[in-house]
Amino acid sequence: MKNNIQQLVRNHILKMSAYSAARTEYTGNDAIFLDANENPIGSVCSETHNRYPDPMQIAIKKQLALLEKVSENQIFIGNGSDECIDVFVRVFCEPKAESILTCPPVFSMYEHVAHIQDVAIKEILLTELFQLNVDVILEEIKKDTSIKIIFICTPNNPTGNNINPNDIEKILTQFNGLVVIDEAYQDFSSAESWTNRLNEFNNLVVIKTLSKAYGMADVRIGMLFANEEIIHYLNVIKMPYNVNTHSQKLALEALNNIQQKNAFVQTLNESKKWLISEIETIAYIQHIFPSDANFFLIKVADANDLYQYLIRHKIIVRNRNNAPLLKGCLRISVGTNDENKRLIEVLKMYKSN
Ligand SMILES: Cc1ncc(COP(=O)(O)O)c(C=O)c1O
Repeated sequence: MKNNIQQLVRNHILKMSAYSAARTEYTGNDAIFLDANENPIGSVCSETHNRYPDPMQIAIKKQLALLEKVSENQIFIGNGSDECIDVFVRVFCEPKAESILTCPPVFSMYEHVAHIQDVAIKEILLTELFQLNVDVILEEIKKDTSIKIIFICTPNNPTGNNINPNDIEKILTQFNGLVVIDEAYQDFSSAESWTNRLNEFNNLVVIKTLSKAYGMADVRIGMLFANEEIIHYLNVIKMPYNVNTHSQKLALEALNNIQQKNAFVQTLNESKKWLISEIETIAYIQHIFPSDANFFLIKVADANDLYQYLIRHKIIVRNRNNAPLLKGCLRISVGTNDENKRLIEVLKMYKSN
């Protein structure tokens, strides 16, 4: 499907060009740089940080392009995928006039970013099996032309399951707006990444992060993959130096060490299996939901009580009791072996009401 991207971009952004940072105009590093009012002598901290970072993060994009088999121009790098989500909504949604569609229970950042921009949020709940309510979504997007973006998270946070790709494809082919697939947890799953299908759908956008399987949450690197036209408009409005040099270096190191990431994934997936097999033996646990991510949901009679009990034992999980469809549910991230053992020990000591 070929959607007209220019028609989707907010009018005033169509007319803008990117902020011209000094370092965007000359990309070499063999010159005398007297262009950015930096301190040429050094930094007052232990490492040298006196020069602005590469505004276009070229080295990371080169490596990512090889890994994901896309062109460098199909990649946007954000200060965490949170920034990718924020910049994306700001390019495409007119405040007070347009909307995004989300399918709760889902990661709340889409909603948060929309609220900040005064962009309305349409919600179509997942089904009881935590899949998309495709027919209702298709009906809604025909009826409501204010919807510019549909956010889909797979594996879904907080439910943990993969979203059926056939359902996603139906939406991609029938929606005139943009479909963002958030694959923050895709490394843990055996599902194929949607980056493989970028060239089939020009309204497909995929978000990934180094914060989960790569174990680099504090480095703040998120990646957004889409067609070149979309990436162009994201670059137009982003802050020029949105990713610092230290993070760029560490990201490049990480992307050159995929084996380590894969080893982490294997270990964490095995730990998840062990945790689930132990939790299955606990009588008061009503249900453990299947998970394709590095976390899973458990259901109990009184989630608030169990949550508080775990806090008293200095174990912090995520209480999802108040989220739609998740009454009685706690979301548990897979920890280290010692943390997992302690969690099981403490869960086994709990006396449910
Ligand atoms: C589904 C999902 N997307 C994105 C993010 C944000 O990740 P980042 O650390 O890259 O901002 C998270 C963080 O928990 C998440 O769960």
